[in-house]
Amino acid sequence: MKSEEIRKRFLKFFEERGHTIVSSSSLVPDDPSVLLTTAGMQQFKPYYVGKADPMRDFGSRNTASAQKCFRTSDIDEVGDQTHLTFFEMLGNFSFGGYFKKEAIRWAYEFIVNELGVSRDRLTVTIFAGDPSAGSGQVIPEDKESYSIWHKEIGLPESRIKKHGRQDNFWGPTGNEGPCGPTTEIYVDGVEIWNLVFNEYYCKADKTLEKLPSPGVDTGMGLERLAVMLQGAGNVFETDLFHPLISKLREVAPKLPYETQPDQPERILRILADHLRASIFLIADGVRPSNKEAGYILRRLLRRILVYGIQYDIHADLFPMAVDFVKYNYGDWYPEIKNTKEILTVMLEEKTKFEKALALGVKEIEKYESISAKDAFYIYETFGLPWELLKELVPAKVKNLAKEAFEEEFKKHQEISRAGLEKKFGGHGLILDTGELKASTPEEVEIVTRLHTATHLLQAALRKVLGPEVKQMGSDITAERTRFDFSFNRKLTDEEIKKVEDLVNEAIQKDLPVSYQELPIAEAKKTKALYFFKEKYPEQVKVYSMGEFSKEFCGGPHVTNTLRVGKFKIAKQEAVGSGIRRIRGVVE
Ligand code: SER
Repeated sequence: MKSEEIRKRFLKFFEERGHTIVSSSSLVPDDPSVLLTTAGMQQFKPYYVGKADPMRDFGSRNTASAQKCFRTSDIDEVGDQTHLTFFEMLGNFSFGGYFKKEAIRWAYEFIVNELGVSRDRLTVTIFAGDPSAGSGQVIPEDKESYSIWHKEIGLPESRIKKHGRQDNFWGPTGNEGPCGPTTEIYVDGVEIWNLVFNEYYCKADKTLEKLPSPGVDTGMGLERLAVMLQGAGNVFETDLFHPLISKLREVAPKLPYETQPDQPERILRILADHLRASIFLIADGVRPSNKEAGYILRRLLRRILVYGIQYDIHADLFPMAVDFVKYNYGDWYPEIKNTKEILTVMLEEKTKFEKALALGVKEIEKYESISAKDAFYIYETFGLPWELLKELVPAKVKNLAKEAFEEEFKKHQEISRAGLEKKFGGHGLILDTGELKASTPEEVEIVTRLHTATHLLQAALRKVLGPEVKQMGSDITAERTRFDFSFNRKLTDEEIKKVEDLVNEAIQKDLPVSYQELPIAEAKKTKALYFFKEKYPEQVKVYSMGEFSKEFCGGPHVTNTLRVGKFKIAKQEAVGSGIRRIRGVVE
């Protein structure tokens, strides 16, 4: 069954059962708490919570859609047989119309009767309940779904599994929203359909409230369904990808077939996924940038370009992919027929990237040999990844193991990981440790510099004013660091100047920033400073900046103090008896 046929049949099936077919919403959602659309239910959030009226907008309480989705949390997994960034989700939804009984029955009928999958291949899961959902709340087991599967549909008990909150409870997308227990349907052990029963509203403080009228939200990945129905080995062998992969294979004969036999297929899949996803993002108005969705798009495009250089691919991949996507998806998603504009955006990014690369190539001329730290710096500043260094200047990196670069990379990724995790179903790149707040990669860079500066500031204050200076609080945004400390009078201008000078001297010395992970008791013996109000875990990191500063801290920091830039004290004030506050900036 062709993918197009699957989409059609799904929508028709639900149309015949009183659902209004709604077109896919944009990948860029209206909901500001979410970076990109990750599920079909997102465009319907207001209907679940009674903020919009489905009867007025759809003439029905029930809708169905094929929705464009993008999950940033899977970017690094792409390349295997299953993960994708962009995918399509088929779903049926109800806002106070029907509930578990109909939803489960229709799902079952669609799979068994409409798609002809034998019922013996099915297993399902249901929610086991959560006895400790926080704030004294208990969420009960979903006995109703169990009984529908078992008693009404007749699935044997052995094929109904119960799972907890992790697996069988959805939501919310973003900070808050509808959520509830799920029942998942598996064919031959592969999950194909997720049925969510939105009984609750999950508030920003994580407590749940019963929704006035419960809703249904189901989602079935089209790609996975196509694998199953087309007897394909994986998504890339389905009609959704196969023609593109074949073409890519043809135009990229120099993939490392001999030297790294496991790589060529992986690279082809990444290319195919990233090309398709970029085209859909651009069609929905995303433009490459260093922020949020634009940054995701830039990452995808640049990865394609890097592979192009690395493996000597001369064909123009962008026009080729744009044609493929237009031909295969244009009927469903008319926005991607705007190929001229899409291609222009892609080619502009290519030109920009080539310029940055040229600068990077100049930069590496300056090095005799390139260390892991240098390589990371070059990557961050000019976009030249390790693989390209190997390609362009093999002699200069001959002593650099990939592991060392990756180690360096990982340190910095901890920062963006913190963001990525939150972003699942949700957010932009956000770093929020309580102390540091940043919402774009550039902001992450600045708050990281300010964070290192804050350690230097505390050390300098103690050197100038004495050990009675103790941290009382700190808060860092992309604009400034704000540091509160115990001291019982205003600082004189000379003292301010001295503190500033000490910090800048330490920066100029380009002290290495390093840390050691120790059990808390041992860490305390190192005489490192720590913030008494903070609850530290059993294992803590002790950050040192040369001999100048030593403090407990979770990071992140720059690798060397020179990276902080010039430090300036912008303001001092009193914030209570015996507590002073300093605001500092970096230039
Ligand atoms: N929102 C659920 C999911 O994305 C069901 O549609 O899996």
